[in-house]
Amino acid sequence: MITNMTTNNKEINKSVKANTNFYIANQITPEGLDEIQRLILAHSLGLHVALEGPPGVGKTKSVYEIAKILGLPLHLKSCSSRTVESHIISYPVLMEKNGVSITEHVNGPLCSAMLDGGIFYGDEFNLLRSDVQKRLNSAFDDRRTVDRNDGAQITAAPGFWAVISYNPTENVVARDLEDSVADRFIHFYYGRWDPDFKAYVSSRIAMGKNNINTDTAQEFNLAASWRAITPQLEFLSGKIESGKFIWRNYFTGELWNGKPRYIYRVCVGKSITNASLPVAKNYSSNAFARLISRFTEIIYNLATTGKSPILNENGMKNILDNEDLELLSVHESSTRIESAALSHYNELLRRGCNAVIAQAYSTRLVIDQICYGQFRGRKLTSLTVHDLVTAIARCLNLLGEQTRYNTTAETDQANTAATRGNK
Ligand SMILES: Nc1ncnc2c1ncn2[C@@H]1O[C@H](COP(=O)(O)OP(=O)(O)OP(=O)(O)O)[C@@H](O)[C@H]1O
Ligand SMILES: [Mg+2]
Repeated sequence: MITNMTTNNKEINKSVKANTNFYIANQITPEGLDEIQRLILAHSLGLHVALEGPPGVGKTKSVYEIAKILGLPLHLKSCSSRTVESHIISYPVLMEKNGVSITEHVNGPLCSAMLDGGIFYGDEFNLLRSDVQKRLNSAFDDRRTVDRNDGAQITAAPGFWAVISYNPTENVVARDLEDSVADRFIHFYYGRWDPDFKAYVSSRIAMGKNNINTDTAQEFNLAASWRAITPQLEFLSGKIESGKFIWRNYFTGELWNGKPRYIYRVCVGKSITNASLPVAKNYSSNAFARLISRFTEIIYNLATTGKSPILNENGMKNILDNEDLELLSVHESSTRIESAALSHYNELLRRGCNAVIAQAYSTRLVIDQICYGQFRGRKLTSLTVHDLVTAIARCLNLLGEQTRYNTTAETDQANTAATRGNK
């Protein structure tokens, strides 16, 4: 049964009211996936996430939203160079028991999150001293344990998930994450907000309430459409069709009748067009695994020797000749990174995602991982490290030709209609 538009608008309104801070997803990958979908995917695969980006682009906010969606407790720790392990793991307190003074250990945010199968969020994680960062490593890899300072070993309950955020360029003392730490997280880069989007969010916050009847996205020249998450954590996109507001599976386009668990808006910006699928080859899962491995090997050779005969043959000669490859440094890829990319690939296919898109998204995870931190924006000659690595992936047919392409049935007209319909 398809509910009619008025009912659905009422439902959306109710949900919006429940979420006093209405979320507007805006960190959209060229494949069309937004940060809410990306975080849910990573969580469902048990992969911890490192969010990198300048201040105020919604890193913290997006993690709060995920905690809300997953219904998990969030244990937050803002880190600085003065943070020591006891602030994160556990700290001793003097207690009196039967008239005797004893020392008890109180769990810090990391142990609390591990024990209750919740989310640990470590803000500004790169500011932690490197020995403190490394001390936490066992919690974030397959061991899923950490030794408390009183000798007790804490093992993570199922569901335990960690997100850290960092900004390597914010201040002069900031450095990159420790390599061994970075390897235990998949990296998402949150870009600076477009001025129109910043103005839109600021005005919504200043308004103090979020009512879709007074949505002003269009006044800021933004195309905002509807997305939602089902109770089974599947992805939906919503629009008006023949006068009715309906939800469809984001990947398959299949009609979805039910009550979403979480509804949000997504600002796809002006640059996304409804272009057709990219011209990229669609590899089998094993062929894709081999290609990813070859891709990271090529980058590694290029960074260590400045040469790559394979790329010269593949039409990259002009680009490579013009760039100062001595400046090319990247983080080395690892099995952990590449298997995280492949598990995303498989999960996206399971959800009905087009294979070419799944391949491009998974490749991008590898790119963001080997370019994380200060390497990303480093200029070679005309290209940055991230641009060059992306160009190489494109040359290997791992990414599409277009820089941006859309995956969904969302259209600007439908959203215009949705906004009008609400007035
Ligand atoms: N997608 C969003 N939709 C609506 N409001 C948002 C969104 N993202 C962020 N905001 C609002 O913008 C402000 C800044 O966001 P937030 O604190 O999450 O940024 P941050 O990237 O964590 O910054 P910092 O690096 O300084 O910690 C907050 O008031 C938040 O509520
Ligand atoms: Mg923050």
